[in-house]
Amino acid sequence: MTDSTKLKLYIETYGCQMNVSDSEIVVSILENKGYEVTEDINNADTILVNTCSIRENAEQRVWGRLDVFKQIKKKKPETIVGVIGCMAERLKEKLLEEEKIVDLVVGPDAYRDLPNLLETIESGHKAINVLLSKEETYADISPVRLDKNRISAFVSIMRGCNNMCSYCIVPYVRGGERSRDPQSIVREVEDLFAKGYKEVTLLGQNVDSYIWNKGNETVKFNQLLEMVAKVNPQLRVRFSTSHPKDMSDDVLYTMAMYNNICNHIHLPAQSGSTRVLEKMNRKYTREWYEGRINAIKKILPDCAISTDIMTGFPGETDDDHKDTLSLMEWVNYDIAYMFKYSERPKTYASRHLKDDVPNSVKSARLTEIIDLQNKLSEKSKKDDLGKTFEVLVEGVSKKSKDHLFGRNSQNKVVVFPKHNYKVGDYVFVEIVDCTSATLIGDIAV
Ligand code: 5AD
Ligand code: SF4
Repeated sequence: MTDSTKLKLYIETYGCQMNVSDSEIVVSILENKGYEVTEDINNADTILVNTCSIRENAEQRVWGRLDVFKQIKKKKPETIVGVIGCMAERLKEKLLEEEKIVDLVVGPDAYRDLPNLLETIESGHKAINVLLSKEETYADISPVRLDKNRISAFVSIMRGCNNMCSYCIVPYVRGGERSRDPQSIVREVEDLFAKGYKEVTLLGQNVDSYIWNKGNETVKFNQLLEMVAKVNPQLRVRFSTSHPKDMSDDVLYTMAMYNNICNHIHLPAQSGSTRVLEKMNRKYTREWYEGRINAIKKILPDCAISTDIMTGFPGETDDDHKDTLSLMEWVNYDIAYMFKYSERPKTYASRHLKDDVPNSVKSARLTEIIDLQNKLSEKSKKDDLGKTFEVLVEGVSKKSKDHLFGRNSQNKVVVFPKHNYKVGDYVFVEIVDCTSATLIGDIAV
């Protein structure tokens, strides 16, 4: 039902899970000021695009969307177009100057100012706020969930990043690291469970460095994880992203203690070469990373492990590349997200290291790591044949009305016959087959 008296907000989100979570905060702030979300862009009074700067092609995609918004604005000149998020923070007033259709530019720490900024625009001016904050965590704002399934929600537990990996733009566009009050996190999770949600994913750029200090109280990530797991055993808990230099055994033991903390760790390696890792300022060696993987495999034998890999970092040699391939094979990743290095302004690498690996070499190396990962992912699924998993049902299979899909604790997608099960149920499924992306199962008896 739409309310004709309300202003219509259309919001589009690019980039990471944190951006998805931020868009939910933005909608909450604007709904409180009388806006209503529309999914019809042509019917919008305000169009917001929440943007990502991590690689150049992430920004290219947004420029393409701005061209589309230009056409909409031609037909309806009163439409307000706003760029928010990481690209807004990086390009600031340049977005207002270069792209004449943009009326509003707002960085990730300035969303509370959106209602004021929109009022400024209504009085005929352009508006910008790209101030970064040392404190803002939006702790008191109840996000308006934009997902469709109402089963799984993101909960942001910290913002910003202090790591300064030499290739990464995040500290420049999201500011320094700050953790959110644990009580506000637990309240948000309790509220989600009361509304019928069955899974939360705790989000931070480096969750292992979560720390809350107040008076004598200190809460570290493993303690926060336990507090959230205790909300209800029927609520699954996931988290992302872990940093190999900080991931502690305490976190692994907490995961082992609670059945509802899912057995999946996303532990970005970036490279298998210690020489490259040092130039990336990752603050760990290959051996250290292998030690962390050994700890996971010992403490959580059923744990799925995923990673991010970057290829063609400045100075990366064939031998370095081979080290990456051998690390991938040694770990036996279940999933990997793989990227070509993209030089980002302001970063240490852009200022001090020449982007000297030719694009053709980056592409060839990327193809090789993708091919290898395809084999590893297939093997990881084949190893599941005959196993039984508890699956949280998320929806009806796209390919068949008679099948449901959901994920197991390891975050793998499982498809199985519907029977009388429904979205939100936990079902034990025995795996009988697999495709390249999916496990296929029958109800376990
Ligand atoms: N170029 C390519 N990939 C990058 N990532 C971060 N910065 C860059 C960059 N400049 C990748 C890393 C990170 C993931 C979120 O994106 O692998 O873990
Ligand atoms: Fe997320 Fe980084 Fe992209 Fe910002 S730049 S949206 S933090 S991935």
